[in-house]
Amino acid sequence: MSEPKAKNLTFHIGELSRADRAAAHGHKGVTLWLTGLSGSGKSTLSHRVERLLTERGVFAYVLDGDNVRHGLNRDLGFSAADRTENIRRVGQVAKLFTDAGAVVLTAFISPYREDRASVRAAMEPGDFVEVHVAAGLDVCETRDPKGLYKKARAGEIPDFTGISAPYEEPEAPELRVDTGGQDVEQSAEDVIAYLLAHGYLTGA
Ligand code: ADX
Repeated sequence: MSEPKAKNLTFHIGELSRADRAAAHGHKGVTLWLTGLSGSGKSTLSHRVERLLTERGVFAYVLDGDNVRHGLNRDLGFSAADRTENIRRVGQVAKLFTDAGAVVLTAFISPYREDRASVRAAMEPGDFVEVHVAAGLDVCETRDPKGLYKKARAGEIPDFTGISAPYEEPEAPELRVDTGGQDVEQSAEDVIAYLLAHGYLTGA
């Protein structure tokens, strides 16, 4: 990671450890990093999992691309450099929430492998769980929930992921969810099953 601009900084270690926070919450903090094409179902899946986790008493929170781009990242567009900065900032926010003890679900296309790898590298081992929300371009384009593929094909949206900008699929994600072939209930169950199987939903 690059050095901060400011000098004379001292990192202050607090009184609570991650284990203290996990014990207080009854589960661990983790970031489920959803990546996939526009229209693949990242937002729908993340919000469903957030609700299911919340119903189980888990402190869960969604960071969503379209929403974060209205606030924190309103100064960023869709050039490769802006996407990299988008993902870097979101990665840092996810890291803070994870440290606070939340189960964070991020729903960003995050098309570049290197950007996702940088977020992984910035987090503690086990804190970053890459989830490939795997619906193919044909499925996403047929769904076209926001009408953006149609516009992109018509040349009205430059640098549109899958059409005129790349999407680099994860090579070894912790979890791949087939949102092209199954409904959101099944996909959400896949995510919860992963968290249970890997011990994230227990405090100890
Ligand atoms: S990312 O590539 O930087 O991760 P992000 O997830 O924040 O993208 O934003 C993607 C959303 O922005 C899409 O779901 C879509 O609604 C909208 N969008 C607008 N322009 C583009 C574009 N050129 N490419 C992809 N998505 C776009």
